[in-house]
Amino acid sequence: MSVPRPAAVIVLAAGEGTRMKSQTPKVLHELCGRTLVDHMLAASRDLGPGQLIVVIGHALERVRGHLAVTSPDARAVVQREQRGTGHAVRTVLEEVGTIAGTVLVTYGDVPLMRTQTLATLLEQHASDGNAVTVLTAEVPDPTGYGRIIRDETGDVLEIVEEKDADAGQRAIKEMNSGIYAFDGLLLADAVKRVSSDNVQGEEYLTDVLAILRGDGHRVGACVAGDFVEVEGVNDRVQLAAARRVLNQRLLEAHMRAGVTIVDPTSTWIDVGVRIGPDTVIHPGTQLHGDTVIEAGAEVGPATTLTDTFVGEGAIVRNSVCDHAEIGPEANVGPYAYLRPGTVLGRRSKAGTFVEMKNTKVGERSKVPHLSYAGDATIGDDANIGASTVFVNYDGVNKHHTTVRDGAFVGCDTMLVAPVTVGDGAYTAAGSTIVDDVPPGAMGVARARQRNIEKWVLRRRAGTKSAAAAERALAEQEQEKKQ
Ligand code: UD1
Ligand code: CA
Repeated sequence: MSVPRPAAVIVLAAGEGTRMKSQTPKVLHELCGRTLVDHMLAASRDLGPGQLIVVIGHALERVRGHLAVTSPDARAVVQREQRGTGHAVRTVLEEVGTIAGTVLVTYGDVPLMRTQTLATLLEQHASDGNAVTVLTAEVPDPTGYGRIIRDETGDVLEIVEEKDADAGQRAIKEMNSGIYAFDGLLLADAVKRVSSDNVQGEEYLTDVLAILRGDGHRVGACVAGDFVEVEGVNDRVQLAAARRVLNQRLLEAHMRAGVTIVDPTSTWIDVGVRIGPDTVIHPGTQLHGDTVIEAGAEVGPATTLTDTFVGEGAIVRNSVCDHAEIGPEANVGPYAYLRPGTVLGRRSKAGTFVEMKNTKVGERSKVPHLSYAGDATIGDDANIGASTVFVNYDGVNKHHTTVRDGAFVGCDTMLVAPVTVGDGAYTAAGSTIVDDVPPGAMGVARARQRNIEKWVLRRRAGTKSAAAAERALAEQEQEKKQ
């Protein structure tokens, strides 16, 4: 059966979330590369609703600003005072008008909810011809939740909040997820009739069920197969638990698609990450944002990639890369730090203790050890010796360095930008290069060595060095005599 498209999805996200103990509004806390509210919006969006509405209230400017960036298709409705879930829905309908068709109401703090479960709710709602269908779950510990009250035939009578429940009702394990499919016209009428005559003095959306039933309409429940999915996040312990569940789901999807994940317990992958087949992800790896890893690549151990591209067959070990582009069969690390704007060509290398920023490295070029390259263009087949520094910053401005194809930069060269090392040119080890080196030339920029004879014997008399020198010099004298 095809899933009926809802006329609207209303995501309630106006509450403060005091138990997070945070300056950040609850729904903007993040897991797997997405905020809580954006997880629910993503699951809702896939249903193809006519309207996507988010109720905001607490820290509304921050939440509104966030949604404008991540979810421009969502309409934010402001609920100035949080006078209950029923009041939140009433506020929406007063602002956008009555919505004809199915209205799905859900929360911004239920990040594990799957589109498939929402679709099942909508299907059952439509096929049973209900005025409202509530998503419920049997939970081991229903403390804090509203309980589903059914009659002896199993029909749903009402939802009673924990605080309003008697001991018998509290013993019920079937909880209200807070997610419902409503007939929009009936909802608009019923939500106006909800009173705040209860222990919390709030307008309970849950009361709409009893109201509609009282009017003689069909009220149903859809029992979720997996209660973990309907659990909200209220504190940071629950946030961490949800993150682990979501991460495990993502890892399983990648593994089923051909990715070897050596240690799922220490690997963290954001929702936006794409990974090709026959890749290997080693322990302690974190893949963030829009990172892409192409087929046959190997990443980790202990590697963190953010918005980074890793080409086919590339290897990245023990490294941190942020907005970097690593070409096919390139080799990174161990212990490289590739910062934004790093682009490594095919089969190139950024090796051990190498940092790069805004630097393009051509095909097969190597920066194997202990170097910093910033604001540079390195051609193809170049070799950058150990301890080379691209001196890009004069304290005020950044300058560019160009190292052309086939160049060989000697160890411990300081390339003081702006400067160019020409095609096939060399620099002598230990040089400080301030002038361009023409193609094929050897740039030497260092003082000639001068040895001060017997300096140690005079100036360091009595040390182990002086003793060693004396022995060697005596042996030399001895040899001369023979
Ligand atoms: C609500 C349900 C309860 C259910 C539980 C599931 C009611 C009366 N009770 O209880 O049956 O088991 O959810 O988690 O609906 N919100 C607003 N504006 C408001 C009040 C709430 O936007 O004025 C939002 C909150 O941000 C939150 C959600 O609605 O995301 C639920 O509100 P909350 O106060 O946590 O309801 P519960 O007491 O948990
Ligand atoms: Ca709650």
